[in-house]
Amino acid sequence: MPIHEIRHPLIRHKLGLMRRADLSTKNFREMSQEIAALLTYEASKDLPLEPHTIEGWCGEVAVEKLAGKKVTVVPILRAGIGMLDGVLSLIPGAKVSVVGLARNEETLQAHTYLERLVGALDQRLALIVDPMLATGGSMVATIDMLKKAGCRNVRALVLVAAPQGIETVLGKHPDVHIYTASIDSHLNENGYIIPGLGDAGDRIFGTR
Ligand code: URA
Repeated sequence: MPIHEIRHPLIRHKLGLMRRADLSTKNFREMSQEIAALLTYEASKDLPLEPHTIEGWCGEVAVEKLAGKKVTVVPILRAGIGMLDGVLSLIPGAKVSVVGLARNEETLQAHTYLERLVGALDQRLALIVDPMLATGGSMVATIDMLKKAGCRNVRALVLVAAPQGIETVLGKHPDVHIYTASIDSHLNENGYIIPGLGDAGDRIFGTR
């Protein structure tokens, strides 16, 4: 199944702290980045390597290095920015493609207001970051955009996922692997994940 709920003790602990309503903006922000890094570790386990020879302290040593074009990280504005540095802490050479989506209140469809994708997407792994996979609309629109630009290897990193969002994304894009710290219970009538984290963008940016 392309859904990976990473039940690592450090992730469980940090996510438990993030669910506290009284957690400070600073701590919420830090934990978003830390969990993003831990999800990146899982999502990058099968990255291809190539042999390489370097000059070591005792002469030539056969080592390995990541092969191919650099990964692109794709934060979905605005909340995805809250996970970006966590991914970059493990993959510092990654290129960043930024996507901005807003919901059209009449059609309820995701409308793209910013699309700054890096080149050669057909040769890159794309790691989309967005803390909350709720209805899945923004995630599907971002995957559509990346695939239209030629990307064939897309993974999504989310802090918390709702079953409805997972179903929507995998229904449209069954090849996309989703990495999450938790599959939560459901969406409420306002589209918030329960128990979830509340409005992740507000909590990361301190705009509550
Ligand atoms: N976006 C959020 O920030 N929180 C949710 O629970 C759902 C969507």
